Amino acid sequence: MRLQDKVAIVTGAASGMGASTARLFAEEGAKVVVTDVAADEGAAVAAEIVAAGGESRFVELDVACEAEWERAVAETVSAYGRIDILVNSAGVSGSHPDLLNTHTWDQQMSIVARGVFLSMQAVIPVMQQAGRGSIVNISSISAFVGQAYVHMGYNAAKAAVRVATKSAAVQFAKDGIRVNSVHPGIMPPMKNAMRSADPEGRRARIAAVPAQREGRVEEVAYANLFLASDEASYITGVELPVDGGYLAI
Ligand SMILES: NC(=O)c1ccc[n+]([C@@H]2O[C@H](COP(=O)([O-])OP(=O)(O)OC[C@H]3O[C@@H](n4cnc5c(N)ncnc54)[C@H](O)[C@@H]3O)[C@@H](O)[C@H]2O)c1
Repeated sequence: MRLQDKVAIVTGAASGMGASTARLFAEEGAKVVVTDVAADEGAAVAAEIVAAGGESRFVELDVACEAEWERAVAETVSAYGRIDILVNSAGVSGSHPDLLNTHTWDQQMSIVARGVFLSMQAVIPVMQQAGRGSIVNISSISAFVGQAYVHMGYNAAKAAVRVATKSAAVQFAKDGIRVNSVHPGIMPPMKNAMRSADPEGRRARIAAVPAQREGRVEEVAYANLFLASDEASYITGVELPVDGGYLAI
C-alpha cells in the first residue's frame, strides 16, 4: 500500500475531491482525519471508511479559524501521534452572478487564502518535529487564467495558494517537508456552485477542454496520492494541473 500507516488530514473532505481523496488514502493504508464544516456529511465519510475496514475519524474544522486548526491538530496528534500528510481541499465556489460583489472577494480570501496559510501554520511545526511531511494544496486552473463566469476573488485566492505553496516548499524543504499544488480543471460543480453549474455554460466549457470531458474526482485524488506519497520524495514546489489539457492550449 502506498500510504501504509501514514497519518493524513484532509480538509473539505465531506464532499467532492476531498471526500474522494480521503477514501483513496484510507484504501492505501493511511489513517485519515476527515475535516469539514459540514459535520453530518463529514462524519458519514469517516464512518464509510471505517465500515470498509479503514482507519478514520471526523473532526469538525472551519479552515478560516486559527483556534479550530489548533484543536484539530491537537486531536490528530493525540489520536495518532503525528501528521505525515495534509491535503487542503476545502473551498467555496466563486461563480457568483454578481462578479463585483465584495462578499465573494472576502469569502475567498478568508476560506481559500487564509485557510491554506492557517493550515500550514498549524501543521508544519508538527511535521518539523518529525523531520518529514507532505502538503498538497488544491488550487485550480483559476490560479493561472481568468474565466468570464468566475469572480476575480476566486482567481486571486487560488493564485495566492499557488505561490504560498512555493514559499513553503522553499522554506521548509530543509525540514523534510514537501509542499505542492494541484490544479483541477473543469470538474463536477462544487456544492455551492452558481454560474459554473449552469448546464448550457458547462457544455460550452467542456467543449473547449482538449480531452472533451469534465474531470472525475478520483483523477484529482490520484494526483494527490502521488504527491502525498514517498514516490514523490524529490518533488516539491511544483504545480500539477489535472485538467484534460485546459492549460496547455
Ligand atoms: N469543482 C470544480 O470545478 C473545481 C475546479 C478546480 C478547483 N476546485 C477546488 O477543489 C477543491 C474541492 O472542490 P470540490 O469540487 O470538491 O467542492 P465541494 O463543494 O464538493 O467540496 C468542498 C468542501 O469544502 C467544505 N468547506 C467549505 N468551506 C469550508 C470551511 N470554511 N472550512 C472547512 N471546510 C469548508 C464544504 O463543506 C465542502 O464539503 C476546492 O478548493 C475548489 O475550489 C474545484
